[in-house]
Parts: sequence; structure tokens; C-alpha cells
Amino acid sequence: MKFPLKILTPICILITIFVGSSLCISCTEKKAKESTETVVLTTERTVTNTSITEKTRAMKVLLINGSPNEFGSTFTALSEVAKTLNQEGIETEIIHIGKHAMQGCTACRKCRGESDKCIFDDLVNEVAEKAKEADGFVFGSPVYYASANGSMSAFLDRLFYSQSKYFAHKPGAAVVAARRAGTTASLDQLNKYFTINQMPVVSSQYWNMVYGNNAEEVKKDLEGMQIMRTLGRNMAWLLKSIEAGKQAGLELPEREQRVSTNFIR
Ligand SMILES: Cc1cc2nc3c(=O)[nH]c(=O)nc-3n(C[C@H](O)[C@H](O)[C@H](O)COP(=O)(O)O)c2cc1C
Repeated sequence: MKFPLKILTPICILITIFVGSSLCISCTEKKAKESTETVVLTTERTVTNTSITEKTRAMKVLLINGSPNEFGSTFTALSEVAKTLNQEGIETEIIHIGKHAMQGCTACRKCRGESDKCIFDDLVNEVAEKAKEADGFVFGSPVYYASANGSMSAFLDRLFYSQSKYFAHKPGAAVVAARRAGTTASLDQLNKYFTINQMPVVSSQYWNMVYGNNAEEVKKDLEGMQIMRTLGRNMAWLLKSIEAGKQAGLELPEREQRVSTNFIR
């Protein structure tokens, strides 16, 4: 059957318009679908954000109390930090080491050879075990003769010499309690354990100290207590930031083969 050109041409034009408009409709549908997919993505992103918050809730900070007075000045300061961390959704555990006889480091170096633990199997190894899972640390000490007290110093020497790897790249903060003087010297001493071990140091609105001879006096040091709350919030913020970085795929910095030279060479 033959159609004259006069009839065929308008039919072709009509077919072209119909197919074209159908294609356009399916394009629009695709665009609409894509925009739905974008919404879904946004929702997923929200879910991811929620999972960051959920992960944040599961994060944990260990707070070490070096004082022999379990519920004294240092404990009062640490408790204020812990309370603030809890309000920020971070779990906490306060560990008291001050009442125990604390062996100092005997420089046997066995922890750097045949074992990766301290040969004195006491609180040092127990805390190191907990440190593996912890996300941040607060070391609290009373000031004794313008330094951290003996128990805390002995404890940290052994802990960091034997098992510093469980602390690297995790935030740390030092807190001290004193009756009158020696606070900044003690903080300098404690902060050195962090800064030799690639740990971000958490600070506050002032140096992390409280004044008082006992818990009741420390509670009256309103500025000191506020410093502790600010410290807790800063620690929480840093922990959440690190977690958000991990979720976004940010990896730990590359580590070079260690170079170790002594002054005489
Ligand atoms: C052996 C010893 C040395 C101390 N040396 C200092 C000091 O150098 N400067 C200071 O201000 N207070 C000093 N104090 C006081 C304590 O730092 C202060 O009482 C602190 O609140 C104790 O904290 P705690 O209750 O957590 O043990 C010393 C106390 C003792 C027992």
C-alpha cells in the first residue's frame, strides 16, 4: 500500500513529536528518580551522622587518680571532668592507684625485649589492658613538693615505658590539685608523657588545676571546678572530631622507621 507524500509527512511529524515528548517524560521521570535518590542519600547521610553519635556514646575515657585519698581533692576535680564527659555521652571510669604500693621502673628493659608488658604484674598492666579499648585519658595527681606524687610518677614511668602504644594518637589531659603552689611544674611533668607519645593534649580555659587541701575546699574553688568542666567538654569535642574523621576515612599519620641517636654520637 502506497501513501502519498502529502499524507506521510504530517504522520512522520506527529510520530516524531510523540516519541520526543515520551523521551522527555522519561527524562523528567529519571530526573525525579535521581532527585529521590538524592533524598535517600541525604537520609543515609543522616543515618551515618546518627551512627557517629551512637559511636560517640560508646567512647570511653579512663581517668587515673594518683592520690592516696580516694575521695579527696584530685578525685573531686576528676569527678567534675567525668560528669561533664558523661553529659556529652562519653563513658568514663575512674581508677585509683594512689593507695597501692607502687614499684618504680627498675630499667630491666624486659618490656622492650622478651615481653611487651611490665615484669611487675600489677595495676600498670591492668590499666594498660583497659587502655587498649579506651579513647582518651585524664591523669590526675595531687601536688607533692611541686611535682606529681610518687605513686603517679612511678606508675606513669612503667606504663609508658612498657605499653605506650595503647596511648598513641589518643587525647590526654593532666589535672593537678594543690593547697598552694607547684601546680604548673606538676602539669609540665605530666604533660610530657603525652608529648613524647604522639598524643593530642587537651587544654581548658586556664591550666588544669584546682586549689584546696581537701574535697570540700576544692568544691569552693569555683574557677577550678569550671576549668574541669571546660576540660571535659573540650575532651568530648576532640573525641567526637577524631571519630568523625575516622568515619570519613581519615587514617592515622604515616609512621617513619624510628631514628634513635644519643647525644654522644
Ligand atoms: C607529701 C606532700 C607534699 C605536698 N606538697 C605540696 C606542694 O608542694 N604544694 C602544695 O600546694 N601542696 C602540697 N601538698 C598538699 C596537697 O597537694 C593537697 O593537700 C592536695 O589537695 C591533696 O590532694 P588529694 O586530696 O587528692 O590527695 C602536699 C601534701 C603532701 C602529703
